[in-house]
Amino acid sequence: MDITLKSPSEIEKMRVVGAATARVLEMIEPYIVPGVTTDELDKIMNDYIEQKENAISADLGYQGYPKATCISINEVVCHGIPGPHKLHKGDIVNIDVTVLKDKYHGDSSRMFIVGETSPRNQQLCKCAQEAMYEAIKTVRPGSNLTEIGAAIQKVADKAGFSIVRDYCGHGIGKGFHEEPSVLHYKNNFNCILEEGMCFTIEPMINAGTYKCKVNKKDGWTVTTADKQPSAQYEHTLLVIPNGVEVLTLRKDEDFPRIIVH
Ligand code: MF3
Ligand code: CO
Ligand code: CO
Repeated sequence: MDITLKSPSEIEKMRVVGAATARVLEMIEPYIVPGVTTDELDKIMNDYIEQKENAISADLGYQGYPKATCISINEVVCHGIPGPHKLHKGDIVNIDVTVLKDKYHGDSSRMFIVGETSPRNQQLCKCAQEAMYEAIKTVRPGSNLTEIGAAIQKVADKAGFSIVRDYCGHGIGKGFHEEPSVLHYKNNFNCILEEGMCFTIEPMINAGTYKCKVNKKDGWTVTTADKQPSAQYEHTLLVIPNGVEVLTLRKDEDFPRIIVH
């Protein structure tokens, strides 16, 4: 495996783009209301990325992807394409943003609840967030990548939810998707982490089956096979001496930016 180790100057650029990515998800929060279209949200975020962050969306044009962000509602697992569809009260919505600035990428996503939603939907969103946080806590030089999947599996099993297997976290840097692949379920793909590695952890947790389907018409939109809801959170991480730094941490989070063991 060829995993890039970031130099101090590259780490600084990853910090800058990570912070910009976090701000996009902070900025968009007040716009998540019933009646807003996902196209409107996409335009607000793209304008913000270009005009306020002097950066660009890495999604736009990526393998032909037509929009600046991914907005995935309810049974949409990931890669929801913004369009004329309006948000409704009770929807659970993932917004996934990847910013490219000074040649480096920052990738993060979170769930938003439109007004109030069902207890089950709330539990699902909480579970995805907790699974990501528990996985982040395993990361340090010398830890095994398998500990990430094991941590997520424990949280999902306890809640009685399933883990998507078709999509993974990934190394990140000059490339949007670099090595390694980060599996979110219990696995034996051993890989020892080293200081300077950057990768995402982005578990997708389903209320029902883990199985997914890709929309044949648009080639992108991934939904659960049983149409039950799905939730996801994503952060971009840096392995630091003795621990981990969350490069895309937001102000609204109750989680440390830096964990040292
Ligand atoms: N941001 C997604 C990820 O976490 C990838 C989106 S690719 C796109 O890896 F083309 F759909 F935007
Ligand atoms: Co990602
Ligand atoms: Co992403």
